[in-house]
Amino acid sequence: MKAPLQKVLLALSAIGIVTAGAAIAQFAPPGGGRPGGPPAPGPATTPIANFGGPLIGLNAQQRAAFEEGAVEFRTQDTPETGLGPIFNGRSCAECHSGPALGGGSNVTVTRFGRVNESGQFDPLLALGGSLLQRFAINNLALERVPAEANVIAQRKTTPLFGAGLIEAIPDQAILAAAARPQADGISGRAALITDPASGQMRVGRFGWKAQHASLLSFSADAYLNEMGITNRFFPTENAPNGNQAVLARFDRVPGIEDAVDPETGRSDIDAFTDFMRFLAAPPRLVMSASARAGESVFATTGCGGCHTPSLATGNHPVPALSNQVVNLYSDLLLHDMGSLGDGIVQGPAAAREMRTAPLWGVRARAPYLHDGRAPTLDAAIRAHDGEAVIVRNRYLGLTPAARQQLLDFLGTL
Ligand code: HEC
Ligand code: HEC
Repeated sequence: MKAPLQKVLLALSAIGIVTAGAAIAQFAPPGGGRPGGPPAPGPATTPIANFGGPLIGLNAQQRAAFEEGAVEFRTQDTPETGLGPIFNGRSCAECHSGPALGGGSNVTVTRFGRVNESGQFDPLLALGGSLLQRFAINNLALERVPAEANVIAQRKTTPLFGAGLIEAIPDQAILAAAARPQADGISGRAALITDPASGQMRVGRFGWKAQHASLLSFSADAYLNEMGITNRFFPTENAPNGNQAVLARFDRVPGIEDAVDPETGRSDIDAFTDFMRFLAAPPRLVMSASARAGESVFATTGCGGCHTPSLATGNHPVPALSNQVVNLYSDLLLHDMGSLGDGIVQGPAAAREMRTAPLWGVRARAPYLHDGRAPTLDAAIRAHDGEAVIVRNRYLGLTPAARQQLLDFLGTL
């Protein structure tokens, strides 16, 4: 919830006139961390040409919704507007900013849980799992990874370019991709989830575990779980490590914090959704001769068995999203990635299952993989395991020249 005055203050603080009043405390991870909370976002990142623009073909009203959504996406919340008591960031843009607004970043969040004696995964809900909130509006509310946890995973911020196009791919198209005959030991499956916003059974496609199907649901989830802002789909505040007494002491804003405008029925989560829905796909670079050869190597090596070059959107009320080819390089399915899996069971996704990472825009998001462990594209491919073993071994058997062509191709996406 943001009053107009708050927006003025935020605008002033962006140019350094007002300093944040609240003392923000931080969970200190083993690697140490920055005291005083996350760095305040500086001036807007310099966009690389064309990353972060709106879709082509939007009408004036949709274009305005994109711009207004971008403002909300950048707006920092404060304890007075509902931030926290525990949180991971103060604005969406704090994490989703590279190489332009709406992108990803090296910011990771921590997930934890416990595998018990019988091999069952317990997300430790009663202790605040599985997502850790790393910061708090007061030191006394800080979360820790509980001693009970024996699985701890980092997840890197994923970019949102072209998210509206991915959202507009019909469930049927993803189910068809799962049902098609698959070679090379690959057997992806669709992530069937209940969409919190619509209450419908849908095919998940967003997040490392394909945990959401719609941008409105992801916005509502992120607003609560990354920023601590309760909203109409997620009305219950997170208790620090599950402790209701601590929550009661530090939850300053009662009720639903992302207030719905009675006239429009809309709130901030709808504005975030507009911004992400109308974000253009990552722009591709012109291919060199080597990259063109690499496109064939990508196909013959079998990368396309999971990284499907394109899917198509269905009929959509927004013409710019209707019946479009989406060159995302993903089947949006969950695959058993063996040792590369992050160990967290989430929705229908098992511990070792991960969503095929869309490769569009991959040139702008090193380091790679869900936890950013791979500094180069080559290292990312070598870390593929599980269902990808046959294809990975084929990659390892390529001549150095063919491997370079493949990497040159990825460098144009
Ligand atoms: C602290 C950093 C952080 C903040 C703040 C944050 N996000 Fe994210 N975002 C992430 C991470 C990390 C992921 C990947 C999470 C996962 O899959 O478990 C993600 C994933 C997403 C995705 C899925 C994209 C895809 O297809 O993979 C959407 C949509 C999204 N965020 C929207 C938002 C919105 C809207 C906000 C503001 C309300 C927001 N995020 C705030 C870190 C952040
Ligand atoms: C069995 C399915 C499968 C096959 C085959 C496969 N991948 Fe992947 N790929 C994935 C999944 C799943 C991820 C995300 C894994 C993670 O980070 O945990 C991924 C991630 C990546 C990433 C990192 C993306 C990022 O955002 O960090 C790159 C690059 C990549 N794959 C390239 C390739 C190439 C090139 C090939 C062919 C040699 C290939 N992959 C074959 C499933 C596959």
